[in-house]
Amino acid sequence: MPREQFGTPNSGPVRRKKLFIKTYGCQMNVYDSARMADVLAPLGYETIDEPDGADLVVLNTCHIREKAAEKVFSDLGRLKPLKAARAKDQDPMLIAVAGCVAQAEGDALVARAPYVDIVMGPQTTHRLPELIARTHRSSGAVLDTDFPTDTKFDHLPPPRADGPTAFLSVQEGCDKFCTFCVVPYTRGAEYSRPAQAILDEARGLISAGVREITLLGQNVNAYHGDAIGSANTWSLGRLIRALADIDGLDRIRYTTSHPRDMDDELIETHATVPALMPYLHLPVQSGSSRVLEAMNRGHDRDTYYRIIERLRKGRPDIALSSDFIVGFPGESDADFADTMQLIEDIEFAQAFSFKYSPRPGTPAAENTDQVPDDTKAARLSALQSLLSQQQKAFNQASVGLHLPVLLTGPGRHEGQMVGRSPYLQPVHLDAPATDHGKIVMTEIKAAISNSLSAVAIDSTPESPSRKTATRVDAH
Ligand code: 5AD
Ligand code: SF4
Repeated sequence: MPREQFGTPNSGPVRRKKLFIKTYGCQMNVYDSARMADVLAPLGYETIDEPDGADLVVLNTCHIREKAAEKVFSDLGRLKPLKAARAKDQDPMLIAVAGCVAQAEGDALVARAPYVDIVMGPQTTHRLPELIARTHRSSGAVLDTDFPTDTKFDHLPPPRADGPTAFLSVQEGCDKFCTFCVVPYTRGAEYSRPAQAILDEARGLISAGVREITLLGQNVNAYHGDAIGSANTWSLGRLIRALADIDGLDRIRYTTSHPRDMDDELIETHATVPALMPYLHLPVQSGSSRVLEAMNRGHDRDTYYRIIERLRKGRPDIALSSDFIVGFPGESDADFADTMQLIEDIEFAQAFSFKYSPRPGTPAAENTDQVPDDTKAARLSALQSLLSQQQKAFNQASVGLHLPVLLTGPGRHEGQMVGRSPYLQPVHLDAPATDHGKIVMTEIKAAISNSLSAVAIDSTPESPSRKTATRVDAH
């Protein structure tokens, strides 16, 4: 059978093809992967869960830490024999590397893995069909690591809803240049989508059954997209207020935010918009003002305390999450003690923590004052043990509360469903599968490792009254 040409979405019948996408890293990548599947669907691609039998494998990569990038190369090594076994076929397997490793490595990636067919950065998702077509005409790999002036958002089809929760990308890129971070180099300069495009996308998702939207951006609270009805721009707080007015949108979240962009309007929005869930991921990275300065974070330790204090004043039950880096170049025992103290003071509901990993091309990687790995490991272990105690305490304090839970999928056992509390905790309860997508009132019965178990109750939703225990006055 002659091989079919890839055509435009309307150019006639297409053969079904199998697509496997593996996503690494952040939620922006999860969003981009879904959009790649959307853009390929009209070409006959349907997604499968394994690379075996795929006509196209996309690795949507993350470059943020060394381990993340190395994982991509070891996965490529595993794909090599699969591809070789298909080489004699009329229609061999194509391998595309997308995302931040592709952006950062470019030609070097092809030199290391010459069997890769496509290398594309995070800004060119919409060009994937064209790149696939080009592989049929090209003898080597096809590279596209531009930062195009027209954005991918202008070209992608509206996203398809898949369940009651969805991501919506509102902002991309970063101009902050923290000295440890590759994002400004791989994702490019900050860009905010116009508010109208975001509201339209949200309405589409809601009419397809979505009840909770998480607004995404590398620096989501730096949002400054074109306003609706004026020549100005809207901040994230203003955008959230407009989204909260849409009928059918019950829950709004956003991630990842930066302390520098936690403006008055956004803090006020937490206090006044009930649809904005009482959960905030606000990375602080370090509790030492000296280290924060060396990181070029643009804020100090006290500023972080003050932001949390103001947030909690308006929304006392807000659950806090953060990112921490231990072993940043020059971090002393005293700096690390400041970080531990900050954690003790703030009390986090959950957090992510990492050993500093030097990223090529970033200023901190050039620093000669690198912290030895065993020191980093010891600090990470102490920090994670404190954070894990706090997470357990936070979950334990939920026992007895009445919380509304959005049911998102089947639970651990037959007859169970799992959902999310307002504080983003996974909650398991007995419920019929037909309740998928409903928000049910529950009473929390137990905290089991990192999730909760609950029973459905009939009572009208009560506002959860979680006592906060910030000791910010001490600072
Ligand atoms: N080393 C360790 N952690 C890093 N992060 C970003 N760059 C590095 C690095 N070079 C962490 C930060 C960031 C999260 C997404 O990844 O904590 O907030
Ligand atoms: Fe990276 Fe800093 Fe930008 Fe966050 S704010 S993406 S850590 S450079």
